[in-house]
Amino acid sequence: MSNDHVRLAPSILSADFARLGEQVAEAEEAGADRIHIDVMDGHFVPNLTMGVPIVKSLRPVTELPLEVHLMITDPDLFVEAFADAGADTLIVHWEGNLNLHRTLQRVKSLGKRVGVALNPATPARMLIEILCDVDLVLVMTVNPGFGHQKFIRSMIKKIARLRDMIDALPHNVDLELDGGIDPATAPLGVSAGGDVLVAGTAIFGTDEPIATAMDRLRASYGDRTS
Ligand code: DX5
Ligand code: ZN
Repeated sequence: MSNDHVRLAPSILSADFARLGEQVAEAEEAGADRIHIDVMDGHFVPNLTMGVPIVKSLRPVTELPLEVHLMITDPDLFVEAFADAGADTLIVHWEGNLNLHRTLQRVKSLGKRVGVALNPATPARMLIEILCDVDLVLVMTVNPGFGHQKFIRSMIKKIARLRDMIDALPHNVDLELDGGIDPATAPLGVSAGGDVLVAGTAIFGTDEPIATAMDRLRASYGDRTS
């Protein structure tokens, strides 16, 4: 198995926040393609994490694109603030958004890339009418809210369905996988068609240096280049 097009998006949720800038720089040096920032509000998911100031602080310390995964009840209220802080991509959830098309247009009008995330229970087909309007689909391979959870294997079929739907489009859309990605599960997700892997624990939460952890992940799906 070999896939040279798979990109890695380290999730800073598992980083050491006292050394966040250093850890992001290490991930960049080790060949990360983008930095994944998990924003949680304690309502949409039962956890609180970070907000706009983290994006603002990271913007000057890395050249990597910053993607912000909004696990919040009312993303429309915050997309502008995250865009102004330096986010490159805003990912909003399908769930709970009564006016998703409007949200996507709002993000695009800010000149940012836009992604839609699907929780494990949400079928791939819910994106049929909107897929042509997004830059990225994020398949949650755990229930959103926490790092270090177990990859839900039944998501493999959903990933494959989304791969087929994306391949039928005239342009490319990133198919990103988020949750429980490690050297055992990454090859399953890549084989099913995922082309961007988010990983928190497997990159920042091991005893190894970040570069070693990233190499181990890449080697698992047959990509040895960084
Ligand atoms: C979960 C977050 C993930 C999380 C992944 O709600 O969206 O991005 O950081 O963490 P790991 O890689 O530890 O499963
Ligand atoms: Zn995430």
